[in-house]
Amino acid sequence: MKYEGLDFPQVVEELADRYGVALTQQGQNSENIAKNKSEKEILYKINQLTARFYYDTLNSPEGQRGMDYLKHRNINHDMIREAILGFAPSAGKSLLQHLQQKKAPLDLAEKLGLIRKGQRGDYYDFFRDRVMCSIVSAEGKVLGFSGRALSDEVQPKYLNSPESPIYHKSHSLLGMQTAKAVIREKDQVILVEGNFDMIRLQQEGIRHVVAPLGTALTEQQIRYLSRLSENFILIFDGDAAGQKASARALELFLPLGILPRVVILPSGEDPDSFVRKEGVEALQNKISNSVLLLDYWIEQILSERLASDSKTGQGPQAQAKAIRKVGELLELVPGEIEKVYIYKGLRKGMACQ
Ligand code: UTP
Ligand code: MN
Repeated sequence: MKYEGLDFPQVVEELADRYGVALTQQGQNSENIAKNKSEKEILYKINQLTARFYYDTLNSPEGQRGMDYLKHRNINHDMIREAILGFAPSAGKSLLQHLQQKKAPLDLAEKLGLIRKGQRGDYYDFFRDRVMCSIVSAEGKVLGFSGRALSDEVQPKYLNSPESPIYHKSHSLLGMQTAKAVIREKDQVILVEGNFDMIRLQQEGIRHVVAPLGTALTEQQIRYLSRLSENFILIFDGDAAGQKASARALELFLPLGILPRVVILPSGEDPDSFVRKEGVEALQNKISNSVLLLDYWIEQILSERLASDSKTGQGPQAQAKAIRKVGELLELVPGEIEKVYIYKGLRKGMACQ
C-alpha cells in the first residue's frame, strides 16, 4: 500500500490481477466480477487505442492545426509524447471509423464518452477539432481525455470525458504518470489548477506537479496524494477566483491534519503564463519562499479587520468577527497541538498590528 500509494482494496485487486487470483466479493457472484473485470480491460484498451489515434493524428498532416496550436503555446515534442497529447479531427466520424476498423465494441466506446449517438441513431465523434490531453493513471492506464478548443471563441474551452466505469473525475489527477515517482522522491507535491499549467511546469523540469480536472480539488485527490507525500504546495492565481479556491482548499486540508503551503501569483497570471513571462527560476523562488496556507489566511483575515477598522471605525466588532473567523478554521483542525499553533499564530498576528 505504501509503495504504490494505493488503498487496501486497490492493492488486493492489483495483486490478484498480477498473480491471477480470482477475487469474490460479498453480494456479487464471481461470474459478475469476471464480466466487470473483462469489461474494464476492454475499456482501457479502447482508451489506449484512442490516445494512440489522437497522437498519430496530431503528428500527421490532418493534425497540423493542433500542432500549430501547441507550437504557439511553446510545447515541445518530448512533452507531447510524455503527456500523450493529440488532436481530434473535425470531420465528425474519424475516431468512429478508426475504432470500427480496429473492431472495438462501439457500445463500450460510447460508455467511455468517445462517441455518441445522433438523432438518427448513428454514431459520431464526441471530441472534434480539439487538442487532446490524455488523462493517464500513475500506472500508465488511459482513463479519459480532456480536449482544448483551438480558439477562445469556442465553448466550452475544455471538453472532458464523462464519468465512466474507469474514469471518476473527483479521484483523477492530470500528470500523474510522470509525477508519481518524483513526488515520492522529492517528498513534495505541487498542485496547479489548469491542464497547461501542469504541462508547462513538467516541461520546464518541475515534474512533481499535478492538476485536478474540470473540478475544484477534492478530498479523495488529497488523500490519494498524501500517501505519496504530505508536503503540498498549492499555486493559485492572485485574483478573486484564486482567493476563493485557496479558502476552499484550506477547508479540505485542515480536517485531514495537513498544512499545505501556498504560492500566490500576481493577479491575472497562472503558472503557465507566469513561467513564460518570468522564467521557471522565478517560480522555483516563489516555491522556496512559499508560506503555510493557514498563515496566509490568518493574515488575510486580520488585514481585513484592519481595513474595516479604518473604514467604519467599528474596531471591536470587526475584531470579534475576525476572531470568530479564525475560530471557525480552528474547529476544522483535529489535533490539539495544531489548534494551539493556530492560536499562537493569531496572537502573533494581532501583536504585530
Ligand atoms: P481555466 O479557465 O483557468 O483555464 O481553467 P486554463 O487552465 O488557464 O486554460 P488555458 O491556459 O487557457 O488553456 C482551469 C482548468 O479548469 C478546467 C480545465 O482542466 C482547465 O485547465 N476547465 C476549464 C474545464 O474542465 N472546462 C472548461 O470549460 C474550462
Ligand atoms: Mn492558462
